[in-house]
Amino acid sequence: MAWDPAVYTAFAQPRLRPAQDLLARIETGTPGRVVDLGCGTGNVTRLLAARWPQARVIGIDSSPEMLAVARGGGGAEYALGDMGDWRPEAPVDVLFSNAALHWLDGHGALFPRLLAMVAPGGTLAVQMPRNHAAASHRLMAEAAEAGPWRRLLMPSATRIPVFEPSFYYDLLAPLAASLDIWETEYLHVLEGDDPVVAWTMGTALRPLLAALEGHDDWRDGFLAEYRRRIAVAYPPRPDGKTLLPFRRLFLLARRASL
Ligand SMILES: C[S@@+](CC[C@H](N)C(=O)[O-])C[C@H]1O[C@@H](n2cnc3c(N)ncnc32)[C@H](O)[C@@H]1O
Repeated sequence: MAWDPAVYTAFAQPRLRPAQDLLARIETGTPGRVVDLGCGTGNVTRLLAARWPQARVIGIDSSPEMLAVARGGGGAEYALGDMGDWRPEAPVDVLFSNAALHWLDGHGALFPRLLAMVAPGGTLAVQMPRNHAAASHRLMAEAAEAGPWRRLLMPSATRIPVFEPSFYYDLLAPLAASLDIWETEYLHVLEGDDPVVAWTMGTALRPLLAALEGHDDWRDGFLAEYRRRIAVAYPPRPDGKTLLPFRRLFLLARRASL
């Protein structure tokens, strides 16, 4: 599934805010090694480098398109890699991931493995969207069910990418010296025509549209069904802007110092 940096960064500011909020909660001294897993275009990686200028900051991503933009912006090292099997050369002081780990399955094994990569006294810091019960995502599944494209879009349209906060608590509490998990529902204020569809086009719709490649009629039909439902669920406000409530899960797990 290819990523399109221009489509993703069309909403750069509201997408950056959760990363800033997560970064602000990390309490650490002077980390030597900082890794940004699923770094995308490097917008967040550069914030990490600015916060810890003494650190070696490395962004990892599996998309050559996103990495090309990241490298163009500089500010850190970038490497092609798959978060699913990536291993650090040495333990990491801050292992950070914003809006990326929900693309991987198997969180029950993944999160303890990630925490084990963190150095003593270091921090695993993660933000993942948990909006799959909201209309923006529920209506994707409805539109996927509504036509002959159904067999290509299921089960990807009904995948649950992120579990309840208690799932992550039970998993990490026995392994962490301290654990802070919270959720925030942002109220994104979007401008332009059809902005909710433009937003999901950059992320959650991507696997569905990839599954419809080579089936242009079905792609158009599915998108029309989705657009129609979204227009009803997210009407513009009197000022012409559209509100997109969006829930995200945050997690800070700290390893005991030696
Ligand atoms: C929604 S973007 C977030 C990018 C960045 N963290 C940010 O906050 O701007 C998700 C990123 O995860 C990357 N990604 C998805 N699956 C991946 C995998 N298995 N391994 C590495 N990167 C992956 C994508 O290429 C994409 O750049």
